Amino acid sequence: MNDIPYSIEGFDHCELYVGNAKQTAYYYQSTMGFKPVAYRGLETGIRDKVSYVLNQDHINLVITSPLEKNTEIGQHIDRHGDGIKDVAFTVNDSHKAWKTSIERGAESAMEPKEIKDENGETVLSAIKTFGDTIHTFVERKNYSGSFLPGFKAIDYKENLNKTGLVHIDHIVGNQPDGEMNSVCDFYEKVFGWHRFWTVDDKDISTEYSALRSIVMANDNEIVKMPINEPAEGLKKSQIQEFIDYYETAGIQHLALSTKDIISTVKVMRKKGVDFLPTPQSYYENLSDRIGNIDENIEILADLGILVDVDENGYMLQIFTKPLQDRPTLFFEIIQRKGSNSFGKGNFKALFESIESEQQKRGNL
Ligand code: FE2
Repeated sequence: MNDIPYSIEGFDHCELYVGNAKQTAYYYQSTMGFKPVAYRGLETGIRDKVSYVLNQDHINLVITSPLEKNTEIGQHIDRHGDGIKDVAFTVNDSHKAWKTSIERGAESAMEPKEIKDENGETVLSAIKTFGDTIHTFVERKNYSGSFLPGFKAIDYKENLNKTGLVHIDHIVGNQPDGEMNSVCDFYEKVFGWHRFWTVDDKDISTEYSALRSIVMANDNEIVKMPINEPAEGLKKSQIQEFIDYYETAGIQHLALSTKDIISTVKVMRKKGVDFLPTPQSYYENLSDRIGNIDENIEILADLGILVDVDENGYMLQIFTKPLQDRPTLFFEIIQRKGSNSFGKGNFKALFESIESEQQKRGNL
């Protein structure tokens, strides 16, 4: 009944607002194998901000910094630290996406605007979602340029350490206590999404810093956005720690898929990405818990990769430590082998690991 009269085809890109776009872009390039494909800034006639577009297979990250004081980008960085401003969707009709969203109660972040260059035309519009985060609707009308009009292609010829990341599996939003359900209702009402999976604090021992989570998904379940809120536990919830440092609701993690998590994590570790450690005890009874898997458990233990199973198969996952100084945004690397779940079986081990990091930060 909540069908939308346009289609969301997938995650288009995520835009990060950061203090130093040049160096942040280089971090994702050198440690995770993202390729710089497009740029805009002073050299392209943009005076107030600079953006680098990084691509790997279906994943696009836009890294943006202000070039002057008192900008909306600068205020965003001052309040939240480096973080994700925009979770952009590819749509077939940006006008319709914006108009429908506004009619259904969303607030506009940008009215539809057609932008052109010699490579074609696109339509962009945007709405606000939780915190200061927005969703841009990107409609490319046979656009053949490197990213969007206004960006100059980067002809990058150096060898990159390919890490085999393929697409965005899901993007998670953290909410302040008590706001998870209203945010899920927003996605239901505005986009017609449904509740795909939930986990509540009863699923997680109260010894551990607890959370509640509802995964929202679009019709064809290509776009999935888990929405978290903190739950009461004996210790401070990791979600509350995020909210304390981000100051508002915001994007907690991007889960990036790979077809070979072992080789992905090997390269990323070698290039200096810090992952959350997994206690060796996790692997002791792993095969009893999950049955037969293709991977060698000793190698998984060596790399700290977690495994979870459901009725359809299994999945492998690992989480980076925060990717900037504030304990806010991080990435998950995930390989699905049949399972569509979100790793509930790993929460205990994962939370123990997160708690030990929170302890080091004095935030438990
Ligand atoms: Fe995740």
